[in-house]
Amino acid sequence: MCGIVGYAGPSEASGRPLDVALDGLRRLEYRGYDSAGVALVTPGQGGVASAKKSGKLANLVEEIAAHPLPDATASIGHTRWATHGGPSDANAHPHLADDGRLAVIHNGIVENFATLRAELAADGATFLSETDTEVTAQLLAREYRAAGDLTAAMAATARRLTGTFTLLAVHADAPGTVVGARHDSPLVVGIGEGENFLGSDVAAFVAHTSEALELAQDQVVTITATSVDVTDFDGTPAEGKRFTVTWDAAAAEKGGFGSFMDKEIHDQPQAVADTLLGRSDAQGRLVLDEVRIEESVLRAVDKIIVVACGTAAYAGHVAKYAIEHWCRVPVEVELAHEFRYRDPIVDERTLVVAISQSGETMDTLMAVRHAREQGAKVLSIVNTHGSSIPRESDAVLYTHAGPEIAVASTKAFLSQITAAYLLGLYLAQLRGNKFPDEVGVLLDELRDMPRKVRTVIERGEYVRATARSMAESDKVLFLGRHVGYPVAMEGALKLKELAYIHAEGFAAGELKHGPIALIDSGQPVFVVVPSPHGRDQLHSKVVSNIQEIRARGARTLVIAEDGDDEVRAYADEIFWVPRAPSLMQPLLAVVPLQIFAMALAGAKGLDVDQPRNLAKSVTVE
Ligand code: G6P
Repeated sequence: MCGIVGYAGPSEASGRPLDVALDGLRRLEYRGYDSAGVALVTPGQGGVASAKKSGKLANLVEEIAAHPLPDATASIGHTRWATHGGPSDANAHPHLADDGRLAVIHNGIVENFATLRAELAADGATFLSETDTEVTAQLLAREYRAAGDLTAAMAATARRLTGTFTLLAVHADAPGTVVGARHDSPLVVGIGEGENFLGSDVAAFVAHTSEALELAQDQVVTITATSVDVTDFDGTPAEGKRFTVTWDAAAAEKGGFGSFMDKEIHDQPQAVADTLLGRSDAQGRLVLDEVRIEESVLRAVDKIIVVACGTAAYAGHVAKYAIEHWCRVPVEVELAHEFRYRDPIVDERTLVVAISQSGETMDTLMAVRHAREQGAKVLSIVNTHGSSIPRESDAVLYTHAGPEIAVASTKAFLSQITAAYLLGLYLAQLRGNKFPDEVGVLLDELRDMPRKVRTVIERGEYVRATARSMAESDKVLFLGRHVGYPVAMEGALKLKELAYIHAEGFAAGELKHGPIALIDSGQPVFVVVPSPHGRDQLHSKVVSNIQEIRARGARTLVIAEDGDDEVRAYADEIFWVPRAPSLMQPLLAVVPLQIFAMALAGAKGLDVDQPRNLAKSVTVE
């Protein structure tokens, strides 16, 4: 939510600071696209130059092409998801102070901004926007006048703010310097050669360097071309944690696909394979070195609570079925924002599993903190290195999906399920619920999934054609049972997010208890059909559900396993997926639903990578 980039380069002014800022913004635009802006330190050209524009980054690029900016030594850039103040030019970042010699960008919400604004106004400050950010800019200017040093002024400013913030600032008096501060909002440092970077996440600078530094909460960082200095808010020197980014820059490009989403759907076999990679020993036994929670504690766990939001929560729902089945330990799945505020029953014997692609979702981060305060151990399943949730967890299992840029999550979902399954098998092995050879069989089934996911993707054209023919739909329902139920909810979420169509996912068994009243003639209903080879006669129960809705006029779009002849008679359209064990089916069944939502949104002329009102990384509660 809001993308932030900073760059400090050589003392010779050039076009690179602007290029780095715009390139970083392009890569961070998924974090918000209500407006974009840059500020440059331009020694000899008046000190600080800036440009900002409401709407997507393209508007800013156009503005700069029409009114070129001078060469510079440092830059900051911002792409906004509006909180305080609507998405106008005036409310766009950067915000200037100190007669235009200081520029500030901000991610987060300053909760005490009204008090500060009144205090600064009484002191003579005037404001051009409605934002909390401009208040921080004016406060920083006042602190700078008092301290005469931008780093010290930033620390003093940070101490006065409540809420959440990442701030970056440049000042005409410090031509090759960018100063940042973070409190409950993301900021990472990229370490280059003769230049340094700041970003909301590593995507901002991965094209320039893969060496990075993770900052802790409540730190101030000052970068120049040749130095990176970190302090606490009280000015005490501190250390960041070095790490190497394993994504290459090309992974954050579209790679010839029409959209990031299309590319990321095609990345899914690799994302699953990479998440499995390196997690077994020479004998094929599961090894999860990252699970740095004492084995005695894991053996004593009597309840697992998964906390997550959006797609990650649906991955958690899928994992619940597998982990309970394999480990015989109760698993609850809770939306992170509900968990935190309902006084949950959590103690030392509870394992909280936080799932998050970005590692920055504020609701999930707050749930992690709350769980740890109650004495629970927290293991996070996260995709983004250097992010906050892993840093605040007892252990982390990284998914290796690579950068996910499209706002609607796809490959993260598959890799989260994969990682959660690895965790489930690990616990089953550790707690003695499964013998190593049984775990081995299940691991082999998982290892076979990338090949099957690829097959589903290869069959995508029929799904796309069906979606194009349904561009006029205004309501679509999704049904599933057992692990197919969260898949149905995820399919509905994709359609809401991308195509702005009212879509709902239901447990197929619940249909007769209410939702069936929604069915009338021609109503499209997706049904995720369980394997006919699975247990508990679930297949025949879902087939009966299909007959019930068809009898009431529904148009049935069925996800079924290859060779499932029984279902053929009741389906208006069938999207076939390869045969797989029941618990593995979500990794396949969700793929046609992703492709359907993407193609239908495309047919409506919508931007599938940046749907309206959304942001990928939601760093406010
Ligand atoms: C936002 C995104 C969703 C995502 C959710 C959780 O709402 O739009 O696509 O599933 O956040 O994000 P996380 O990074 O925690 O997985």
